[in-house]
Amino acid sequence: MIGPVSVRGMQRHLPILLARARTLLGLKGGPPQELAKSEVRRAADAVLRLHAGLVGDRALARPETYQGELLGAYLLWWWPQTYLKTQAALRLAPMPRAPRILDVGSGPAPAALAARDLLGGEATCFDLSAPALAEARALGVQRTVRELPAEAFDLTLAANVLSELKDPAALVRKLTGTIVLIEPALRETGRALLQLRDALLAEGFARALAPCLTQKPCPALAAPKDWCTAELRWTPPRFFLQLAEATGLRADEMLSFAPLILARQAPVPPRDLWRVVGVPLPEKGKKRVWVCSDEGRVAVGRLDKHASAENAQFDTLHRGDLVQLTGLERRGDGLRVVPGASGVQRLEPSDAGERLP
Ligand SMILES: C[S@@+](CC[C@H](N)C(=O)[O-])C[C@H]1O[C@@H](n2cnc3c(N)ncnc32)[C@H](O)[C@@H]1O
Repeated sequence: MIGPVSVRGMQRHLPILLARARTLLGLKGGPPQELAKSEVRRAADAVLRLHAGLVGDRALARPETYQGELLGAYLLWWWPQTYLKTQAALRLAPMPRAPRILDVGSGPAPAALAARDLLGGEATCFDLSAPALAEARALGVQRTVRELPAEAFDLTLAANVLSELKDPAALVRKLTGTIVLIEPALRETGRALLQLRDALLAEGFARALAPCLTQKPCPALAAPKDWCTAELRWTPPRFFLQLAEATGLRADEMLSFAPLILARQAPVPPRDLWRVVGVPLPEKGKKRVWVCSDEGRVAVGRLDKHASAENAQFDTLHRGDLVQLTGLERRGDGLRVVPGASGVQRLEPSDAGERLP
């Protein structure tokens, strides 16, 4: 799990989000941070309709969807989620400071604003939907465009848009700077993102910075049921909780997403640095985590009786963490933390930035 991701940066956008959503949904109005009781049903019905068309049969996964009531629903339900997923994804790898940011398929700009709030810089939003771009401007983005700009950017984001495109690779090949791709954590979209990764790496377009540290084909694709997701815990805004209760949809504690970060040039990471890609429940007498690096996807185990101060951080590892593992022993079933020799150091995002030169 990536964390903690602060919802503080998002707070300042909430009153505008709610006010704009009220206009789009034709709601009467109420307090600045929450829906009035009389507003909840109508907003919840629009969220349910959009959810069915985006997550269910995907019939609404197209630019024409993002207007009127459905755009209002997007602001209340998906916008805060994308904002936090983006900030979590940006912590997976070193990022340019005060970058020129391009948000592709931006919708009403949750990813662009998340990046700008975290890193500084200036954001340009590109989307085919004029009403969605009008909301991006209402939320404070100065430049919005309906064609992919020709100039180079330091950081390009594409959140929840690749799975709406016929040829996502063709779009990604045109992107510049550090490229942060976020897709829904579903098996289909998660695996499609990894297949895209493998294809782009194989043709030499870019190197992968996250979630994987390896440049080899993704080991998760070897098994048809595997893919790679990151997750974060959050405390949603009050109106989100009202909608979670009214719709029965669950996104009010944990958010999952499939991230991929690419860069045209990136250094080779140190051999002892791993990404945690799975944390199964502890077994009797031992704990294992799955980690990934150039060696592939490997299990690292530690017997409970070998727990010590040097390896105490083994207990704090979550999916998405970067960890430095030294002095491991190789066993038949993977790698082993051994007493007296192994070091386990979980890296905070800022440290990770320094370790990945
Ligand atoms: C699910 S929304 C994602 C919005 C935002 N990035 C987010 O993650 O919350 C998909 C967005 O992609 C846009 N879109 C779809 N096809 C596009 C294309 N070919 N070029 C640009 N934008 C596109 C849609 O208009 C919509 O705003």
